[in-house]
Amino acid sequence: MKTVTLNTLRAFKRSGETFSCLTAYDASFAQVASQAGIEVLLVGDSLGMVLQGHSSTLPVTLDDMCYHTRAAAAGKGTSLLMADLPFMSNATVERTLNDAAALMRAGAEMIKVEGEAWMADGVRELTRRGVPVCAHLGLTPQTVYQLGGYKVQGRDAAHAEQIIADAQALVEAGASIILLECVPASLGRAVTEALDVPVIGIGAGPNTNGQILVMHDVLGVSPGRAPRFVKNYMAETASVQDAFARYHSDVKQRAFPASEHCF
Ligand code: KIV
Ligand code: NA
Repeated sequence: MKTVTLNTLRAFKRSGETFSCLTAYDASFAQVASQAGIEVLLVGDSLGMVLQGHSSTLPVTLDDMCYHTRAAAAGKGTSLLMADLPFMSNATVERTLNDAAALMRAGAEMIKVEGEAWMADGVRELTRRGVPVCAHLGLTPQTVYQLGGYKVQGRDAAHAEQIIADAQALVEAGASIILLECVPASLGRAVTEALDVPVIGIGAGPNTNGQILVMHDVLGVSPGRAPRFVKNYMAETASVQDAFARYHSDVKQRAFPASEHCF
């Protein structure tokens, strides 16, 4: 696979080709995912749940994120490596810049931030300094205690409009990618059609430009009950390599997500 860059993802958006993304937290799994053709690897702060065993992503520190970003960067191959800013990295713009710098030095090629339109200043300052930003909207796990649980977002028309407006404001501020988590498929489509930048979805229906899943969900080893939008690819194979290849191929052919994975 040719090295995946932001331009690759923009070209996919223009041509209508979908792309696959998967979380990765270490060199070995990053390498297997990259070799399976998965275009984008995310060092997600979901590592607080799937690696550390917490019930939320809030305990994850910047040091944790840098450690796993360095590890994943060593195996990322030709895939694009994105890393999450952890909880409260968005407390001030200065902190956002410093924390993003640490992740970029650790090997990230793009930074993902949770936050609505108010995050525009941070997004603008990062973008000005040449740090590509993915803005995460919809179900933002760092705000789970305010949301009252891991619930579908944007179900009513007013909230859906708000999410579209937030996405537009963040793109205006410079966000190169929008990631939408756990929203009705109709809203996933509306945001994707409203924006010129690639939109990655998780539980956001089949019409986003890219799809992402947590690696442990693809391998069927996540603790607790699996959310509706995940698919355990180990149910159909005995090989991790093959599970990742099947996930990638399903995304490219728009066979995943199927209607049973959508809201
Ligand atoms: O932390 C993570 O893994 C994420 C994805 C679920 C998008 O943010
Ligand atoms: Na995350």
